[in-house]
Amino acid sequence: MNRQWILLRTPVGALSTQVFELREAPIPHVGAGQVLIRNLMLSLDPAARAWMKVTSYRGQVMPGDVMHGFTIGQVVNSRSPAYKPGDVVECMGGWQELVLLTPDQLVRRNPNHSLDHLVSVYGITGTTAYHGIFDVGRVRPGEIVLVSAAAGAVGSIAGQLAKIAGCHVIGIAGGPEKCRWVVEELGFDAALDYKAAGFADQLREACPSGLDVFFDNVGGAVLDAALANLRMHARIVCCGSVSRYDREVPPPTSPLLPSVLTTRRARMEGFVVLDYTAQRPVAEEHLERWVTSGELKVVAEINQGLEHVPDALIRLLAGENRGKSAVQIGTLAH
Ligand SMILES: NC(=O)c1ccc[n+]([C@@H]2O[C@H](COP(=O)([O-])OP(=O)(O)OC[C@H]3O[C@@H](n4cnc5c(N)ncnc54)[C@H](OP(=O)(O)O)[C@@H]3O)[C@@H](O)[C@H]2O)c1
Repeated sequence: MNRQWILLRTPVGALSTQVFELREAPIPHVGAGQVLIRNLMLSLDPAARAWMKVTSYRGQVMPGDVMHGFTIGQVVNSRSPAYKPGDVVECMGGWQELVLLTPDQLVRRNPNHSLDHLVSVYGITGTTAYHGIFDVGRVRPGEIVLVSAAAGAVGSIAGQLAKIAGCHVIGIAGGPEKCRWVVEELGFDAALDYKAAGFADQLREACPSGLDVFFDNVGGAVLDAALANLRMHARIVCCGSVSRYDREVPPPTSPLLPSVLTTRRARMEGFVVLDYTAQRPVAEEHLERWVTSGELKVVAEINQGLEHVPDALIRLLAGENRGKSAVQIGTLAH
């Protein structure tokens, strides 16, 4: 049987485990041109909460659907000449043990990388950080770069990449422990606790001449504070807005928009990593070089067992993670 997490109803307000049910379905029959994949590692993404809303950019997960999610998996059966059993792939495999897809829905992965690295630095997470920093943010040496959710999966890599590019990097994270970790372990120049009283003042003091690039994972009040400190020709990289995903009433849009973009001649640009599929090999080549040289640290918190996926997503939305969160539900067969 194929165990799967089903979304029972569209959640209202903060996510709870009550909206999911673990069910069993028959193992799918492999038709002509199809590939059966065993999911080994499920990526946990805050965006999964946004995918349950009608405003989702990739189509809403509806009640009765298997919950959507990026996965790293291994081909167990194939009726396509493009893939053979044992191949390692990345796909939108969902919260389930087995998934039936077609070759155009699969990205072939290097089986020599660890599953931890495939789901983090060489997966959606690392490439999002890479394209956000270099292609959207277009950072240059000596610039001042601010990164929100800096202790999280994308933010922890984005900040390190900006350091590698020769920038002065300030992180924003929730709580003093995370801030200390971002500086001491990841090598950011400074980190600020957005939950602390006087956060906006601290940000102004941390970048007295302003910001060149803001890599924003969060939106809301954190974005407001950053917008008040833009240098001329600043770039705001809109990677995500996690402050909005798990609540019914979104935080108000900044009163500084749009006028601050005009006065600062700034560029605010959103992107989805899938827009950069053609450039992905170059991104991965660079990321691999920096991981191998030790310049880029990869931190992944791997939960074990399909039954823990909803809990682990809720903990991620509450900020109880450092680096990439994922759930391992299988091991590579050699
Ligand atoms: N554009 C793309 O293609 C793309 C691809 C992947 C991910 N993303 C986006 O990138 C962002 C980060 O994703 P991730 O996978 O790396 O997750 P993550 O940063 O590892 O986890 C989310 C973090 O957000 C912080 N957070 C939660 N609620 C918050 C709030 N109200 N205000 C401020 N911070 C809050 C928490 O850290 P604290 O303890 O610091 O609050 C939590 O650890 C998300 O917005 C996601 O949607 C975009």
